[in-house]
Amino acid sequence: MYGGGYIFDEPNKRQLKEEQLHDDPVKLAEFEARIARGEKIEPGDWMPSEYRRQLIRLIEQHAHSEIIGALPEGTWITRAPGFKRKLALIAKVQDEIGHGQLLYNAAETLGKSREAMINDLLSGKSKYSNVFNYPAETWADVTVIGFLIDAAAIVNQVANAKGSYGPYCRALERICYEESFHLKQGHDAFIELATGTPAQKQMLQDALNRWWQPIMHFFGPPDKASVHSQKLMEWKVKMASNDDMRNQFLDMYVPKIRELGMTLPDPELKKDETTGKWSYTDPDWDLFKKVINGGGPCNAERLQVRQWAEEHGRWVRKALMNPNAAKVAPVA
Ligand code: COA
Repeated sequence: MYGGGYIFDEPNKRQLKEEQLHDDPVKLAEFEARIARGEKIEPGDWMPSEYRRQLIRLIEQHAHSEIIGALPEGTWITRAPGFKRKLALIAKVQDEIGHGQLLYNAAETLGKSREAMINDLLSGKSKYSNVFNYPAETWADVTVIGFLIDAAAIVNQVANAKGSYGPYCRALERICYEESFHLKQGHDAFIELATGTPAQKQMLQDALNRWWQPIMHFFGPPDKASVHSQKLMEWKVKMASNDDMRNQFLDMYVPKIRELGMTLPDPELKKDETTGKWSYTDPDWDLFKKVINGGGPCNAERLQVRQWAEEHGRWVRKALMNPNAAKVAPVA
C-alpha cells in the first residue's frame, strides 16, 4: 500500500484549511457568480470545501472506472477474432489506461495524492462504475462494451466537459475524442455480428440481454434518489441529471440497436413522441446498490488484479522516482 494523503504545498494548504474552517459567505457568493457566468474554476482559485470534496469524489471514481474498465476488455486481447480487431482492442485498452492517468492528474489538482486515491480503490472505500463488475464472457460482450458502454460514457462526458472545473473539463474533452474512436470500432464490430451468421447474431443477442440492465444502471439512480445531483448541477459539475442522460442515451442508441434487427429485453421500453421521454421497466436498484458496494460478480477479482499490479509494479515506480538508486553498481 502507499502512504500519502494531501499533496498541497504550504500556501495551498493554508487555503484548504481556510476553506474547511468556514466557507466565507462573500467568497461563496463570488464563486457562485463566476459559475453562473460560465467561467471555469481553476486549481488555485478559491472554492467551497464541499465543491472540492465532491469533485475529488467524482473525478477519482471516474479515474478508477477507467483503469478497472480496461480489465474485462484486456482479457480479450489474446482472443480477439483477427488481427484488425486485436490491434483496435490493444489501442483501446491503452487509451482507457491513459484516461485514468488524465483523470488522476485532474483529481490531484484538488489536493488528494494519487497514492491516497489508489489506496481508497484497493481498500474498497472508493467506488468505480457498476458496469465493470461483470464478466466479458464472449467476444459479443466486448462488442457490447465497445459500442454501448462507450456510447453511454460519451453521453455523460460530452455534457460534463462543458462544466465548471477547468482541469476536469479539459481532460474530458480529450477523452471524448478518443472515446469516439472506441465507439466507432464497437459499432463496427456490433454490425458485423448483427449481420453475421445465426450463431453470431444469437451470441450478440445474449450479450445484449446480459448487459442491458447494467447499462441502464450506468447513469446512476433515478433523479428522485440521487444524493449528489442537485448540488453538482447547481455548481455545473454535472450538466444534466441522471434520468436526462439515460433518456438521451436511449434516444440516440435504441434506434441504432433495433435497426440492426436486435431486440432489447424490456417489453416496456418505448418513447412517448410528444414528450420525447422514454419509459422502461425500472431496473433492479437493490442489485445496483449491491454491485457498487462490492457485491457484484467480479468486484473481488477486479480489485485482486489491481492489487497484484500495484505490488508487482512497485519497483518500476521506485525506479522512476529515484533513477540513480536503480542503476546497477559498476563492476569493480
Ligand atoms: N457506478 C457506481 N457507482 C455509482 C454509479 C455507477 N454507475 N452511479 C451512481 N453511483 C454512486 C455514486 O457514486 C454515489 O455514491 P457515493 O455517494 O458513495 O459517492 C451514489 O451512487 C449516489 O448516486 P448519485 O447521487 O446519483 O451520484 P452522482 O451525482 O455522483 O452521479 C454519476 C453518478 C456516475 C452520473 C456521476 O458520478 C458521474 O457523472 N461520474 C463521472 C463519469 C463516470 O465516472 N463514468 C464512469 C466511467 S466511464
